[in-house]
Amino acid sequence: MRKKILPPHLIKMKKRGEKIVMITAYDYPTAKIVDEAGVDAILVGDSLGMVVLGYSSTLPVTMEEVLHHLRAVVRAKPRALIIGDMPFLSYETSIRDAVLNAGRMLKEGAEAVKIEGGVEVVDKVEAMVKAGIPVMGHVGLTPQRALRLGGYKLMGKNVELAEKIIEDAKALEDAGAFAVVIEFTVAEVARIITEKLSIPTICIGSGPWCDGQVLVIHDILGLSEETPPFAKRYVDLSSIIRDAVSSYVKDVRSGGFPSDEHTMFMKKEEYEKLVEKLRG
Ligand code: KIV
Repeated sequence: MRKKILPPHLIKMKKRGEKIVMITAYDYPTAKIVDEAGVDAILVGDSLGMVVLGYSSTLPVTMEEVLHHLRAVVRAKPRALIIGDMPFLSYETSIRDAVLNAGRMLKEGAEAVKIEGGVEVVDKVEAMVKAGIPVMGHVGLTPQRALRLGGYKLMGKNVELAEKIIEDAKALEDAGAFAVVIEFTVAEVARIITEKLSIPTICIGSGPWCDGQVLVIHDILGLSEETPPFAKRYVDLSSIIRDAVSSYVKDVRSGGFPSDEHTMFMKKEEYEKLVEKLRG
């Protein structure tokens, strides 16, 4: 059996030049499948709010909701590193809240947490790391701050914006983060950060020059209502599921299901005895 992946393993992978593969999962069967497929890290992302719970952004997601899905992923006992995503307002308000909420994630089985933001969250990152909590940062497009950023936009297009993202990533490394997600930036910014930092960069929509990649599982499976321009859809599961369920609908309505194959019968003599008895 291959060894359980913990945060230092990802740093070693960067040193060895091995690409890190991360994906989101929010439930037991999916966590089992993605782990069997060989991912290195599973993120119980706050994206669950949009792809599983039907919210229009990640802002309404609560700690209780993330913890509920985290527990299901933990029960799958994956070899991959399990990362719990800190939802909006679970870490911004105070260092104490940040450490306590991140600690709750670990108590429920997460092996690391992820928080969005750069320079503005380093005090929280430092405190969490001091408490023994491995922290993954998240810079570039930070969906929890999308309103302030003016929407889900490509980040780092000019010198000042690029410098700010690079500064954010460096600040997170200095604060003790073990890895950083770079979301939806121009590829050059992600490349500079990847070269500058000794911790791994894991990109989503920020090009190929990162130490690893992460995607939302619903996007690669074709289950999202809207797939972002940077996500690759590997299969159209929505159509496959729709076709399967409409075949089921037709079968039930036509009497084609259940057939004898899916029906359990009594032994003939038992049935005859029963009929006899009921006749009185
Ligand atoms: O919540 C999430 O799925 C994420 C990824 C997009 C990195 O934060």
